[in-house]
Amino acid sequence: MILRTLAGHAMTARPRVVVVGSLPATGVDLLRRRFVVDAGGGRPDRRWLREHVADAAAIVADPSIPIQAELLDAAGSSLKVVANFAVGHDNIDIDAVRERGIRATNTPDVLTNATAELAIALMLATARRVAEADARTRSGEWPSEEELLGRELAGATVGLIGFGRIARRVAELLRCFEVRLLFSTRSDVPAPPGVERRELGDLLAESDLVTIHVPLPPETRHLIDASRLAQMKPGAILVNTSRGAVVDTVALIEALRSGRLGAAGLDVYEDEPHVPRELRELRNTVLLPHLGSATGTTRDAMARLCVENVIAVIEGREPPTPVV
Ligand code: GLV
Repeated sequence: MILRTLAGHAMTARPRVVVVGSLPATGVDLLRRRFVVDAGGGRPDRRWLREHVADAAAIVADPSIPIQAELLDAAGSSLKVVANFAVGHDNIDIDAVRERGIRATNTPDVLTNATAELAIALMLATARRVAEADARTRSGEWPSEEELLGRELAGATVGLIGFGRIARRVAELLRCFEVRLLFSTRSDVPAPPGVERRELGDLLAESDLVTIHVPLPPETRHLIDASRLAQMKPGAILVNTSRGAVVDTVALIEALRSGRLGAAGLDVYEDEPHVPRELRELRNTVLLPHLGSATGTTRDAMARLCVENVIAVIEGREPPTPVV
């Protein structure tokens, strides 16, 4: 965009970047060094978004912000990139982005270890009933060991649904727990030593603990539904650090209530930030508020990568981690 100074000289305006969602201050500060930044805070309403994206060169979003065709159109022809502050990009209508010749980027790799460690934290917390024991101790109780008997990971069979970067890191980290490892994926990845491939139904039937690591394109919505839950071993544990909608919540609540499932460790929900009351009331759930990448070093690395993507596209270079 060309502006004129008071003296009439032509001047190129700095591109405008609209930031919505949870990009940390480090990222916003880095953007401010080069661009005019319009930071809408956490979750602005659709109207704020529509008005503020007009003439923006970039939108920085996160999984809680739906980026649909209507918003891309409200931005207009100045829009060059939608940079997601996340590895998952199910909040973005990628076809609409592609059709308009815009780029979309995400932040893979830098959050792999943090998310894998959190999945293991949920496995241990559910298997050893850590949250329930903590809540009862805080309330002044001193429950006996017999009341809080758990199970060990050693000797258990752990099934990984999906076998991308995060699932492979979980598998690596689990080696020292002496578990038997299975994985199931639609992609054509070879099985590494010590991890056996299974069809999804067989994996569910054989695993004491199942951990989900798939993205959320339309094909994985409710991948784990009532019929899949019924294939799991009675009393097995389900851990989900991917996307809430991969699991049918109503069916999950029913399986947990009936005792068909032993426990669930969840970091993600179908309708975040809403966590169903039924899940909150159950003792055999461990519930986290979407913390997969929530470590200082990881959020910082994600922020830097997200900003590098924005800068690259606006400056006409290939972004480091494009989605399209
Ligand atoms: C978090 O959910 C992410 O996709 O990075």
